[in-house]
Amino acid sequence: THSKMVKICCIGAGYVGGPTMAVIALKCPDIQVAVVDISVPRITAWNSDTLPIYEPGLDDVVKQCRGKNLFFSTEVEKHVCEADIVFVSVNTPTKTRGLGAGKAADLTYWESAARMIADVSKSDKIVVEKSTVPVKTAEAIEKILTHNSKGINFQILSNPEFLAEGTAVQDLFHPDRVLIGGRETPGGEKAIATLKSVYAHWVPDHNIITTNLWSAELSKLAANAFLAQRISSVNAMSALCEATGANVNQVAYAVGKDTRIGPKFLNASVGFGGSCFQKDILNLVYICECNGLPEVAEYWKQVIKINDYQKSRFVNRVVASMFNTVSNKKIAILGFAFKKDTGDTRETPAIDVCKGLLGDKACVSIYDPQVTEDQIQRDLTLNKFDWDHPIHLQPMSPTAVKQVTVVWDAYEATKDAHAVCILTEWDEFKNLDYKRIYDGMQKPAFIFDGRNVVDLEKVREIGFICYSIGKPL
Ligand code: NAD
Ligand code: UGA
Repeated sequence: THSKMVKICCIGAGYVGGPTMAVIALKCPDIQVAVVDISVPRITAWNSDTLPIYEPGLDDVVKQCRGKNLFFSTEVEKHVCEADIVFVSVNTPTKTRGLGAGKAADLTYWESAARMIADVSKSDKIVVEKSTVPVKTAEAIEKILTHNSKGINFQILSNPEFLAEGTAVQDLFHPDRVLIGGRETPGGEKAIATLKSVYAHWVPDHNIITTNLWSAELSKLAANAFLAQRISSVNAMSALCEATGANVNQVAYAVGKDTRIGPKFLNASVGFGGSCFQKDILNLVYICECNGLPEVAEYWKQVIKINDYQKSRFVNRVVASMFNTVSNKKIAILGFAFKKDTGDTRETPAIDVCKGLLGDKACVSIYDPQVTEDQIQRDLTLNKFDWDHPIHLQPMSPTAVKQVTVVWDAYEATKDAHAVCILTEWDEFKNLDYKRIYDGMQKPAFIFDGRNVVDLEKVREIGFICYSIGKPL
């Protein structure tokens, strides 16, 4: 019965769908993988030499399989119809209006994908939730599929993705775990086994966890909440360090040495960003509230509150240090992406910091090795939560913010500036010629290091007034 080649289709060719499917294609030469999207420019880019996302190692993986068993296409319905397994990896942004606005997940894109699957299917299918969704979404999707199914059998699985941007390919090659949730019925168990056999091509058996649907859905939200909580915890400590003379790096190291706590994910920063932490915690908070658990909701809300506090604390530090005014002063922003090794700017703390400084009438000159001027201008003009809704997927020309310039070199950005803010931990910022930067700047010259990348002693010796998160002033 297994002579037929298994066909996979993934709806959504984004940061998750693209890399995940490319790695499945690479590791499973016997499986044909089609990644489909409604966005024509995205698919065109996936089929070109310049992929739509920057991710170390990804070009290589895509080049090895594209055209062989990996295809990118806008023919959504055709590929869904042909597939045995359909992954759904569309965006699930925060709702901007209506019930649950500002918190709940907007499942519009997910629901329309599900309805389309039901419409075009002519054979049984396994439908896999790859997007991060509220717990119990599978129940809704199951209803939509079965009530429109024309006798076709759909099995729904939850298979959340844990990759982090910047390390996506490595994370996919060596996942800490693959999580598959499904119905505890013979049909559900068979579907779980089928999906497991895909990952078994390269993931050791003991790293593939199978659970019921709700555990899988909730584990994804829980994992992101725990990760973000660690950052808010260390960031909260960073404020106390600055007030007391403790050094947050030393505190984090000492705390992380406890094997029960562990050393990872304890870097104090200007705040966490990225498309998911805030969105997923807001979603979790909303689910708690809907289930009559306001205390639990309030607990997780604090993780976001501390993150917002950390960003505004940084802006206040800049303005207060520069004699309470940054009006018309040039401030260099080094790094705009939400972390190093990605061009992604979704929810980057740089947006809040720049908006804060612009609100105080500063002129900002921004350099990031991977982010385009167009993207930065768009980010600085969009409203909160609007970035992940369709209008954003279309190219548009925002009215540029005049106090913002975007340059392609750190030295150009810092020339004649009063201050430098480091907002992304790009490796190249460690090795800049800070003496040269100092010589080209207005005096007193300030550095505000939001990522603990500069050697404090060195830059202070050069003559900078330097503030670094969680370090003695
Ligand atoms: P993304 O915005 O990069 O990609 C989503 C894609 O889906 C877009 O290209 C969009 O055009 C497409 N799309 C939307 N509706 C569609 C439809 N009906 N038919 C076809 N295509 C459609 O998003 P992403 O970062 O890849 O995230 C996707 C999901 O994965 C989210 O739920 C997110 O929470 C989750 N996730 C993201 C990451 C990450 O690092 N970015 C990691 C783990 C999980
Ligand atoms: C995060 C999770 O790490 C992934 O497991 C998850 O799959 C993903 O969210 C998701 O669901 O989207 P990602 O947001 O890509 O991945 O990147 P992270 O490495 O987690 O960084 C998130 C933010 O936290 C960045 O702004 C980063 O600079 C910041 N951070 C991270 C810190 O400030 N300190 C740290 O110690 C670690």
